[in-house]
Amino acid sequence: MICESIKKSYLKSQNLKIFGEGKLSGIVEISGAKNSALVLLAASLLTNERIILENVPSLTDIEKMGNILKNLGVNLVVKRNQLEIDSKNIAIKELPYELVNGLRASFFCIGALLTKFGEAKLPLPGGCNIGLRPIDEHINGLKALGAEILIKDGIVKAKLKGKKNRLFGTHIKLKCPSVGATETLIMAASLAEGRTTIENAAREPEVQDLCQMLNKMGAKIYDSGKEKIIIDGVNKLNGCTHKVIPDRIEAGTFLIAAAATSSSITISPVIPNHLEAVTNKLQESGSKITIKGNSITIYPKELKAVNIKTAPFPGFPTDLQAPFTALMTIANGESKITETIFENRMNHIHLLNEMGASIKLNKNVAYIKGVKKIKGMDLVASDLRSSAALIIAGIIAKGISRIYGLEHLDRGYENFESKLKILGIKINREFKKRTFTEKEYKIDQDPEDVPKCRAA
Ligand code: EPZ
Repeated sequence: MICESIKKSYLKSQNLKIFGEGKLSGIVEISGAKNSALVLLAASLLTNERIILENVPSLTDIEKMGNILKNLGVNLVVKRNQLEIDSKNIAIKELPYELVNGLRASFFCIGALLTKFGEAKLPLPGGCNIGLRPIDEHINGLKALGAEILIKDGIVKAKLKGKKNRLFGTHIKLKCPSVGATETLIMAASLAEGRTTIENAAREPEVQDLCQMLNKMGAKIYDSGKEKIIIDGVNKLNGCTHKVIPDRIEAGTFLIAAAATSSSITISPVIPNHLEAVTNKLQESGSKITIKGNSITIYPKELKAVNIKTAPFPGFPTDLQAPFTALMTIANGESKITETIFENRMNHIHLLNEMGASIKLNKNVAYIKGVKKIKGMDLVASDLRSSAALIIAGIIAKGISRIYGLEHLDRGYENFESKLKILGIKINREFKKRTFTEKEYKIDQDPEDVPKCRAA
């Protein structure tokens, strides 16, 4: 299941060649959620017994997380989209920088390692192309639970305070509903002494999926999905089998691609209420949406310009802001796209304008005037979700586009081009022996501008 780890430089010489003005039709199968599978892998550190994860997507981020666990001494058996994880022989070691680099989710292991083993050492996750990505909420929450944290030379060392042999439940109020911080603290509190309440907790479906699996393992977690979560610490967590929820961001990406090409498609399996903010916006912009059990079908009637403002769940997800912006480039009228979660998540705007879109950007607000046509060209994506946006733009555009920077796409979309091909898009992955220099293709930012930091 775990796809071959592809060397970054090799990926830079790959591209997706897309023949524009495409149409989609048929049914597309939605994979397991990347942002759920990653945190469930971290949670498997909380037990000495076997964890079986089903419906795990085959992505480079999952491969990286698997390598991190193996480096800790975890035994990982991969059977297609199923992972068997056995953490009974863990030896806590400092995780090498190159393993953790580029995968922020690896930092979420800190809560599990600390509460299970009394200590944890992890490199700082650092920033990435979409923002600084601080971890103050993770650190403050762990300190409130009784951890001693030392950050030196880029390494975070956490241990239990004094002679304590456990973390202690407490009340934590997050300054912002951080998904990762909520997940780190839920894992830490699951084996702490006593009750922990997390106020202003993230309500994302992936946080709820984590709580579902932890409760299967014997945890006592209440009100996940609400803004105040209660965790009564237990002494031990057991093994279990858990199926990862469908990926709502992949699902939303396909619905947006269908609306952009006036195509009717069905996506399945999905959990419809995970996508409500997105389906509501697509209906507002002129598509009919029908829901049947775990399937959603979209019938675009027209494409009206609508405004979106990203927000924590159940608001419009920041991870679909870039794909939705690509959609609005050809909508009738003027739309306003406001990104409120990350400070640098508008990297795609510059490129969409190069393709002929009419977008004015003022900090994190994009004002879009719909145009009749955009034109295909060679483009390089700079982060995971902008790569999906550029692919949608390539499918809409007149002419051929080549999208580079597939190391970002392959982090978060399983078999993306094959799924698009099955839906009727003329798209294929080209491998070039020669490497190419920046001047041969438009890049979305000068390398100097892109802060030397790591993937989202
Ligand atoms: C998770 O990142 C997701 N990643 C992101 O998906 C997603 O965009 C994000 O949640 C928001 O939904 C994974 O789950 C692996 P946050 P996370 O902590 O947890 C600030 C993708 O494309 N903040 O909810 O890192 C932070 O700066 C990725 O799949 C602090 O200030 O996001 C940001 O402005 C990208 N202090 C806001 O909270 C902290 O300690 C939301 O970040 C932590 C976060």
